[in-house]
Amino acid sequence: MQAGFIPVCFSFLIVLNGCCMRNVPTQTATFQQETTRWYYRAVAGEKFMIPCNGYAEMEWFRVGDQSGRNEPQSIHCDKEFVVEARHSGNYTCVTRSRILFLHLQVVEVSLGCSSKEKEVVLIGNKPGEILCPGYNCTNGTYATWFKGKNNMTVQRRGLHMNNGLLHLCEVKPEYDHGLYFCDRQIIEPGVTWTFRRAVWATILPREQATDPPRITYPLANNTEKVELGHSHTLTCEIDFPTERIIAAEVQWYMNYGGDEKNMVLLHTEKPKNGTRTYDYFIVTMRTIIKEVTPQHLGHTYTCIASNMVGKSNVTIKLEEKMKAKWLSLVEYPIGPLLLLAGVAITLHLKWLEINLIYRAHFQPRKYEEDEKDFDVFLSYVWSPSPRMGESWTSLSSSGAGPDKEDSSIMDPLNPKEGEAPQSQLEEFLPQLLEEHWGYRVCLLQRDILPGGVYTNDVILAIQRSKMLICLLSAEYLSNSNACFVLEAGVQALLQNSAFKLLLIRISRDLTSPVLQDPQLSTLVQRALKVLPTLNWTSGNSDNGTCNFLKSLRKALPNQSDAESLR
Ligand SMILES: *[C@@H]1O[C@H](CO)[C@@H](O)[C@H](O)[C@H]1NC(C)=O
Ligand SMILES: *[C@@H]1O[C@H](CO)[C@@H](O)[C@H](O)[C@H]1NC(C)=O
Ligand SMILES: *[C@@H]1O[C@H](CO)[C@@H](O)[C@H](O)[C@H]1NC(C)=O
Ligand SMILES: *[C@@H]1O[C@H](CO)[C@@H](O)[C@H](O)[C@H]1NC(C)=O
Ligand SMILES: *[C@@H]1O[C@H](CO)[C@@H](O)[C@H](O)[C@H]1NC(C)=O
Ligand SMILES: *[C@@H]1O[C@H](CO)[C@@H](O)[C@H](O)[C@H]1NC(C)=O
Ligand SMILES: *[C@@H]1O[C@H](CO)[C@@H](O)[C@H](O)[C@H]1NC(C)=O
Ligand SMILES: *[C@@H]1O[C@H](CO)[C@@H](O)[C@H](O)[C@H]1NC(C)=O
Ligand SMILES: *[C@@H]1O[C@H](CO)[C@@H](O)[C@H](O)[C@H]1NC(C)=O
Ligand SMILES: *[C@@H]1O[C@H](CO)[C@@H](O)[C@H](O)[C@H]1NC(C)=O
Repeated sequence: MQAGFIPVCFSFLIVLNGCCMRNVPTQTATFQQETTRWYYRAVAGEKFMIPCNGYAEMEWFRVGDQSGRNEPQSIHCDKEFVVEARHSGNYTCVTRSRILFLHLQVVEVSLGCSSKEKEVVLIGNKPGEILCPGYNCTNGTYATWFKGKNNMTVQRRGLHMNNGLLHLCEVKPEYDHGLYFCDRQIIEPGVTWTFRRAVWATILPREQATDPPRITYPLANNTEKVELGHSHTLTCEIDFPTERIIAAEVQWYMNYGGDEKNMVLLHTEKPKNGTRTYDYFIVTMRTIIKEVTPQHLGHTYTCIASNMVGKSNVTIKLEEKMKAKWLSLVEYPIGPLLLLAGVAITLHLKWLEINLIYRAHFQPRKYEEDEKDFDVFLSYVWSPSPRMGESWTSLSSSGAGPDKEDSSIMDPLNPKEGEAPQSQLEEFLPQLLEEHWGYRVCLLQRDILPGGVYTNDVILAIQRSKMLICLLSAEYLSNSNACFVLEAGVQALLQNSAFKLLLIRISRDLTSPVLQDPQLSTLVQRALKVLPTLNWTSGNSDNGTCNFLKSLRKALPNQSDAESLR
């Protein structure tokens, strides 16, 4: 079953593609086949192509000795290639009905035969002739012509062929450009060779230019910027009308003192050929001024392009470029400069704030280095109302340790139901810090021995504490003693990076703007805006109180001993 399937498939493929298989044993072919032999002769170095002759995608495989030489093993039909001596040989191609043999012989072009005919230039929209190369050097039959793979004999257009000559009645620029082959039969004993020669046809719009060249760059009377001491390249770009015999010329001249009668030819590079279109081709001509001197600025420079029809010229001047340093000052970095100045001014104006922010928030704290007597210096102004004050006074006098949980203490962290802290912060904060959180708190009125000078006492207290907390209320800010503590704290912060300062704004009435007291020093007013601050509102909800206390806890310094509750 399978053994039968493969040959069926094999022959089916052959029918479909007309493709040729490698190394098919010709003698043992089972089906009826006709053997056809093609003999082609080609000239080494010429473009060549084996026609498909109606077979689709035919590939010829070399037969005979294939031992590892630099020989191509196969040739595709209808594919152009430059034929070489190594292509010589016998090839085969098998189809269902035929075995085809190709004998390809690559020869050197016969001596005495010119090879001029390999290229031809035709003029568009005019009659044109193409000669078969070497026609008169070889005995052979008439020539038949092909344009690529197309048989010219069947073209429906005005043309005729005779004696190795293809005559086109009207050359069509868009179609007739390209590679032509002329085939001749050469009869030798027993063999008829097809001798195939190639001709390349170029179509031009005209025999000779009818217009002078056009200089597209530079523009007339232009000025080019140069830098003294640097090299400068003068470039001239010209569109030359296409013509059969090109008579294009370009030169650069220097006119002394701008006088066009006093011209000197400049040394130029070789002209560069650019894009080529049907109608014109572009040539670029450069000359290099190795070092621009002030004298160069006094002359003018003329590019002259010419063909057989006429000349065109363009004259330009050189001008010194504005000094780079002036440019850099005037044009380009003015924005950054202004920005820099702005930053500098802002820095100057806001230096205090920046300093305070840095010290208050980013400075690493090193408490271990110098041990302090107190963790927190608490500064507040408070005159307890008789109603609220009592319970707290009794509590603070009880001297309870941190681990003692007196049920009568209102724990602000865990306010009991119906017992939300209605008390003022000044009332319970000292106790909270000392007894619940285990901080060593310094209170001026309690911990500083009476009889000293107030200012000295304050400064000493600050020096002995890691941190100052000021409970800013309206009463506090209108109290000059209290404000002195605040100001001393700001000064201490500016001098000592390890010191901490925390402000707690207390608003008993949410609407009162308490902090714009004109009595405050500028330093304090500015510090108030940037120092770390917590807000306390006496009517705080449970959540508000909770959040406040969490933030407060975070802002406090680490305890120096293991006294803390947690
Ligand atoms: C090609 O085949 C011909 C005869 O068919 C033979 O004389 C010739 O030597 C062969 N050429 C090569 C290169 O095999
Ligand atoms: C062959 O020679 C004749 C006579 O010299 C000439 O007229 C003809 O153009 C030549 N043919 C080719 C194809 O060169
Ligand atoms: C052409 O054939 C003639 C006679 O058959 C012969 O004398 C002549 O040498 C041949 N020319 C070439 C180029 O083969
Ligand atoms: C080219 O066309 C002509 C006319 O149909 C024909 O006689 C000739 O055999 C064709 N040549 C090739 C190589 O197909
Ligand atoms: C260039 O300048 C010359 C002389 O100043 C003038 O005659 C000519 O018209 C100018 N050409 C152009 C294109 O401006
Ligand atoms: C530029 O084109 C001209 C005319 O076609 C030709 O003579 C010249 O050799 C070309 N130059 C280069 C560098 O291709
Ligand atoms: C440049 O062209 C103008 C006319 O376009 C002509 O008068 C002048 O003589 C030309 N200059 C040179 C140096 O050829
Ligand atoms: C504290 O209150 C002031 C003024 O009411 C406000 O600007 C500030 O953002 C508040 N701070 C916090 C941390 O809520
Ligand atoms: C307090 O916070 C808890 C959870 O964080 C929330 O469910 C509750 O609604 C908050 N109460 C108020 C009054 O914001
Ligand atoms: C404070 O204590 C925490 C852990 O309890 C520690 O990670 C942190 O480094 C301490 N900070 C200072 C400044 O000692």
